[in-house]
Amino acid sequence: MSAWSMAKTIFFVVLTVGFFTVIWVYNPFAPHETYELPEEAKRIIMDPKYAREGRDLFKMSCSSCHSLRYDGIYLLSVAMKPEWSKIEKSLGKPILEYVEVEKDGKKEKKAVVRGYFVPRDVYEAVAISDLESLKASMGKVPPDLSTIYLARGPGYLYEFILHPQKVLPGTSMPQLFNPEFDKEAPKKVAKIVSYLRAVSEPPPEEKTKRTLMGVATIGYFIIMGALLWLLRKKLIAHLH
Ligand code: HEC
Repeated sequence: MSAWSMAKTIFFVVLTVGFFTVIWVYNPFAPHETYELPEEAKRIIMDPKYAREGRDLFKMSCSSCHSLRYDGIYLLSVAMKPEWSKIEKSLGKPILEYVEVEKDGKKEKKAVVRGYFVPRDVYEAVAISDLESLKASMGKVPPDLSTIYLARGPGYLYEFILHPQKVLPGTSMPQLFNPEFDKEAPKKVAKIVSYLRAVSEPPPEEKTKRTLMGVATIGYFIIMGALLWLLRKKLIAHLH
């Protein structure tokens, strides 16, 4: 191998390895936190067992302004429309949740429908006047929060929900949990963030599947690349 092709090989190997390291180890697209989380909040946010309570709190305190379509939560005013439940069932896809039930003294997992995933255009067609009136009163439509965790990360969300004005001065988002009046406010907010985290993550079996797919895809490229490299002389001879 000549020095030149050796240099080329090393260059491309370093480039490829460097690229995947940047994406996986230090992902420049992921939020890099500048907000410190208190220990207690961190513990609650990272523990998926609080997501259920967080969901109830979200429905109660946030769904008057925000939808969370990936988990079948729609604006309260839309969910209360008499025709909505029919639309959900006919055009949506059921979102299943597995709960433990006792049957004849034995614990069993049972699937229950916790909501319906309705395509965005269908939802927006039904919700248009609700979204417009929110826009008129708030200055902008409060965003759907299905993927907000991936965009903002835990520290920002915790701080923002607890003190919206401190983080986004002038925002029309109200402070719903005020630690001055409610000692439990920080815990409640942490539970909501725990929920936002849980919905942004695929379930564990899905995660394993995706990791395997990723590894298989990269493995395929490496093997194909190696084969092309080894057979390059034959392939070039064929072309002539
Ligand atoms: C009265 C309506 C209203 C309620 C209730 C409300 N929000 Fe908001 N929220 C808004 C508006 C309006 C915005 C857009 C703020 C902006 O960009 O200035 C917003 C923005 C947000 C954002 C995005 C912030 C960003 O940086 O993009 C998050 C996260 C959020 N709200 C979470 C919540 C949670 C959690 C609750 C329930 C505890 C909640 N909101 C309740 C109106 C509301």
